Amino acid sequence: MMSMIISFNNVSKTYKTRKGLTGEIKIRALSNVSFEIERGEKVAIVGESGSGKSTILKIIAGIESINEGSIKIGEFLIEAKNPKFPEEIKGKIQIVFQDPFSSLNPRLKIYQIISEPIEVRERKLKKEEKIEKAKYLLKLVGLNEDYLYRYPYQTSGGERQRIAIARAISTEPEIILLDEPTSSLDVFTQAHILNLLIDILEELKITSIFVTHNIVLALKIADKIIVMKEGRVVEIGSRDEILENPKEEYTKRLLRCSLIYS
Ligand SMILES: Nc1ncnc2c1ncn2[C@@H]1O[C@H](COP(=O)(O)OP(=O)(O)O)[C@@H](O)[C@H]1O
Ligand SMILES: [Mg+2]
Repeated sequence: MMSMIISFNNVSKTYKTRKGLTGEIKIRALSNVSFEIERGEKVAIVGESGSGKSTILKIIAGIESINEGSIKIGEFLIEAKNPKFPEEIKGKIQIVFQDPFSSLNPRLKIYQIISEPIEVRERKLKKEEKIEKAKYLLKLVGLNEDYLYRYPYQTSGGERQRIAIARAISTEPEIILLDEPTSSLDVFTQAHILNLLIDILEELKITSIFVTHNIVLALKIADKIIVMKEGRVVEIGSRDEILENPKEEYTKRLLRCSLIYS
């Protein structure tokens, strides 16, 4: 049976940035955003740059708070007026960022990077345990044990993204957030990583949210698509609805553009 794992109810988010010494600029990143995600669902959030996609992921990961509305993650309700993010959720959610160069600690070896979330969220591990765990996870993402003792700079962009995925699944999270995980890679590597993600999400049955500006990638990986524009939800539909019967002109435009350029 499906059950709701994440819901956004009329969420708005405004960033405040300084302008000069006294001035302040407000940027409205999200306006009245509502959606629901069921446990085990594979969701893609699509939209052009600046449409608020990463902001949604940061809110779910507890990195940013909301200004209006409320969200629910599992049984936890987080409201704008009481924005405290429950610690219990944090270990259940992992995020993979777009840029694998800056997201991996350059001073740690790969086996340490992969096992770090377990140590942060669960318990201290002995060195042999870390290696054991990292070996298993590397295999899952298609890398052999030669990588265990390397540093991030000794790997390619695609390998680094595999390592970031291994790290993200190390705590067996309930939710995995993927913020344009293939956008910095060449098209061939992009396809490899995408196929890897499809396999892993299928095997582990984790709820996933994949953020991309490319609707073709979204249609490849997700069963539900949320289309965003300028901080608002334009349309939500199943993969088939969006592909065969998009309702909004903006969605049709995204489809036309992506199909021309891919
Ligand atoms: N930390 C921040 N401070 C100020 N403005 C931000 C910050 N993060 C994002 N924004 C702004 O919020 C809007 C939405 O950004 P973002 O969620 O990153 O969009 P996307 O991921 O779709 O490109 C953009 O206008 C962006 O410039
Ligand atoms: Mg973004």
